[in-house]
Amino acid sequence: MTPDLYTRADSAAAFILSQTKLRPRIGLVLGSGLGSFADDLAEAVRIPFTQIPSFPRSTAIGHAGQLVVGKSGEVPVAVMQGRVHLYEGYSAAEVAFPTRVLGRMGIGALILTNAAGGINVEYGQGALVILRDHINLQGQNPLTGANDDRFGPRFPDMTYTYAKRYRVIALEEAKNLKIPPREGVYAALLGPSYETPAEIRYLRTIGADLVGMSTTPEAIAARHMGINVLAISCVTNMAAGILDQPLNHEEVLDVGRRVMGQFIALLRAVLPRIAGELQMSRK
Ligand code: HPA
Repeated sequence: MTPDLYTRADSAAAFILSQTKLRPRIGLVLGSGLGSFADDLAEAVRIPFTQIPSFPRSTAIGHAGQLVVGKSGEVPVAVMQGRVHLYEGYSAAEVAFPTRVLGRMGIGALILTNAAGGINVEYGQGALVILRDHINLQGQNPLTGANDDRFGPRFPDMTYTYAKRYRVIALEEAKNLKIPPREGVYAALLGPSYETPAEIRYLRTIGADLVGMSTTPEAIAARHMGINVLAISCVTNMAAGILDQPLNHEEVLDVGRRVMGQFIALLRAVLPRIAGELQMSRK
């Protein structure tokens, strides 16, 4: 019999922790084109996803597919350089498995990042946007099936999915860095086809500012485990139909690379403050 999800997450966490002396309290997931934050961490240990027991393998272009444990300044972090998506054929529980593992490693805060299409026309290409909330339209949820109470409750609250305090910190630090402080609601779709212009008009009507194909399974699994979440989108393109031109993945990756400096600066500024919050609350 295969061990249950909790036992598998525990084994993967133990394996990762056996490779490093660091004990990170903050996890990060780096989205498409945003991976280079993990390139210059101190005391870094890099573990390909393929070496971690039970870990799903990333097949998306622009995702390196490794876990990096290292230090950003003085803050130890566990960084997923790449993630898997539902559109690759994984179940929502599999997509959220790395989040489960980070949780079992002892993290209290998770920073999710992604490339997204901008629906709100006040955003421009390259804008960094802090998520205020999400709308899960993926038709799947990582918590379906029998609930394991060791992770969390059957019906977890999602009122405070994106921690207010972390959003305030991110907006303050954006302002300090002269990055326009923006917040928005992220609509998660299954993909992998981009949206139609009619779908984008619909998403705007229901209150979405951004659209993407990731982040919500991880955010839901994290909240299930009582982990606080901050999420940051990079608007790599205006969503379909806003400009009279087709969307393409190369552009998504290019824009991510172009704003990398700002993006890394924002993460570096936010991390010590979130570490401070965790210490205060001893979460
Ligand atoms: N739609 C969905 N996902 C995306 C987009 C988009 O326009 N851009 C980057 N990821």
